[in-house]
Amino acid sequence: MADSGSGFMVLLLLGLVVVVPYVPVGCSRFVVEKNSLRVTSPDSVKGTYDSAIGNFGIPQYGGSMAGVAMYPEANRNGCEEFDKHNISFRSTPGSLPTFVLVDRGDCFFALKAWNAQKAGASAVLVQDSTDETLITMDLPEDEGNPDYLANITIPSALIEKGFGERLKKALGNHNQEMVSVNLDWREAVPHPDDRVEYELWTNSNDECGVKCDMLMEFVKDFKGPAQILEKGGYTQFTPHYITWYCPQAFTLSKQCKSQCINHGRYCAPDPEQDFSSGYDGKDVVIENLRQLCVFRVANETKKPWIWWDYVTDFQIRCPMKEKKYNEDCAKEVLKSLGLDLKKIEKCMGDPNANSDNPILKEEQDAQIGKGSRGDVTILPTLVVNNRQYRGKLEKGAVVKAICAGFQETTEPAVCLSSDVETNECLENNGGCWQDKSANVTACKDTFRGRVCECPLVDGVQFKGDGYTTCEAAGPGRCKINNGGCWQGSRDGHSYSACLDTKCECPVGFKGDGVKSCEDVNECKEKKACQCPECSCKNTWGSYDCTCSGDLLYMRDHDTCISKTGSETRSAWVAFWVIVVGLAMAAAGGFLIYKYRLRSYMDSEIRAIMAQYMPLDNQSEVPNHVSDQHA
Ligand SMILES: *[C@@H]1O[C@H](CO)[C@@H](O)[C@H](O)[C@H]1NC(C)=O
Ligand SMILES: *[C@@H]1O[C@H](CO)[C@@H](O)[C@H](O)[C@H]1NC(C)=O
Ligand SMILES: *[C@@H]1O[C@H](CO)[C@@H](O)[C@H](O)[C@H]1NC(C)=O
Ligand SMILES: *[C@@H]1O[C@H](CO)[C@@H](O)[C@H](O)[C@H]1NC(C)=O
Repeated sequence: MADSGSGFMVLLLLGLVVVVPYVPVGCSRFVVEKNSLRVTSPDSVKGTYDSAIGNFGIPQYGGSMAGVAMYPEANRNGCEEFDKHNISFRSTPGSLPTFVLVDRGDCFFALKAWNAQKAGASAVLVQDSTDETLITMDLPEDEGNPDYLANITIPSALIEKGFGERLKKALGNHNQEMVSVNLDWREAVPHPDDRVEYELWTNSNDECGVKCDMLMEFVKDFKGPAQILEKGGYTQFTPHYITWYCPQAFTLSKQCKSQCINHGRYCAPDPEQDFSSGYDGKDVVIENLRQLCVFRVANETKKPWIWWDYVTDFQIRCPMKEKKYNEDCAKEVLKSLGLDLKKIEKCMGDPNANSDNPILKEEQDAQIGKGSRGDVTILPTLVVNNRQYRGKLEKGAVVKAICAGFQETTEPAVCLSSDVETNECLENNGGCWQDKSANVTACKDTFRGRVCECPLVDGVQFKGDGYTTCEAAGPGRCKINNGGCWQGSRDGHSYSACLDTKCECPVGFKGDGVKSCEDVNECKEKKACQCPECSCKNTWGSYDCTCSGDLLYMRDHDTCISKTGSETRSAWVAFWVIVVGLAMAAAGGFLIYKYRLRSYMDSEIRAIMAQYMPLDNQSEVPNHVSDQHA
């Protein structure tokens, strides 16, 4: 088989007996996971095309990648090293990465990818050789898996034959035309809500070559993120184990007895493909069942993540190589993790019973594809949100795939750490609105990219489309960058154009209130201080006005009036004039009384008294007498 195209688990030959995958072969559903491939230029091939993600290399789940397609001049199937043909795809600094287009056939898909990677390609596009619906490019299934498998890091995609022809035509004979291609994995995983359900179809067998080594490595590596995600309630993980069954006619054969439990119902291939030595398939099935029960029991106590501890510890402490792959060793591990042995034994049931084991029965039923997920026939298989993961099982890549399964903005912090994702907001602010001066942006980094959403800052909600405009709205908006309105200060005076609902230049200024407010020259524009006595001097934001003479400028009335101070003084003067006048009148009255009245009375009394006695004062009397007698 030149390339293992169908991706179907090669049926394992166990002597004469075929252990049949539980999934019926004839009507099996194998779902090809696709990412979208977009050609952005030239116009002749512009468009979006499906491409099938290969089962090796590292697809950028949740991300996308832009590059330039190139069809090599020689070694067009990519089966030889490109170095031999003096061909390199290494892009020079600043140029776009190269996506190499190769023809299908003549060697493993994985080898084509490996050769392209070694020559510096960033991705490999394999053109299908026949007109058919896309298939998944799988790993070589043969024994002695080549060791480069684990080293393939570039993503790979199979494209339809017809599309490949069009690409080649566009590229011309010597790749004269630049064909820009964008590989996009952002929609490769459904992302309906804030929890990701994922399952790993795994195996406790640790002796199956590169594939098993990669799986063991992955489980160890991924335990950390898996437990963080599970403990945080971000994910719901379920482990699964594939079993096969022994065809009815062979249940009593030696082979089926050594590979199966429950009378041929649940089987696993012999780990070393050698019945006479080492462990049997039966041992693998039993350990798989134990691991399933560990999960069940741990899940009941609401600590499903203990499964990861158990499987990694078992792998380290009980390897087949050291002949410790057995029940005794498993019990040690269970005890050290504080798991209830009795519950686990009860869950496992009797492997010799001629009846169904409910746990394994469920597993077999689960192998059959449902909804968007195809049948599980390849080990290991990772299913994220019911979509089969394609590509290398590698911590970073799988974290990306899981993170791609969260609804925008609900992804946990692990997804947004810098080693997992790129912050799209760092470059050009993700194309979203921003106000640099206020350090406010509408760009929210998410795992698959970014969203442009007007932010809430210090309790003030911004409103707008998030791309070109966001404006702080409502009360308090002036707190943030002055509500986007103009403000200025000069000579110790500050002015702002921010109002609760709009920007408006304050009195003394004119302008749009946003970018500028300019001082109004009240003097020149005859806005104020125009009375004849007024003399006007413009200031920033206002004006000074003085009046000639001793007149005073009344700002409220924009007029000059006589000084209010002199009026007050005259009132006081008048007051004193009155007071003094009154006092003088009183004094005058008194004097009149004193001299006129008294002299009159005196003379009257004197006259009367004079009639009765001689008076001393002669001088006065003659005056008076003389008057009378004169
Ligand atoms: C590759 O280049 C070297 C020298 O640059 C030359 O000697 C050799 O013949 C070339 N090989 C091919 C296949 O073109
Ligand atoms: C693959 O990578 C490992 C570790 O980086 C290295 O030891 C090994 O030689 C590589 N294999 C090949 C075929 O390059
Ligand atoms: C694990 O527990 C959760 C709820 O606690 C349940 O919904 C889920 O079905 C359980 N999984 C298995 C495999 O029993
Ligand atoms: C802008 O705000 C972000 C978070 O709100 C902060 O991390 C960053 O340091 C700020 N930058 C400046 C220049 O103030």
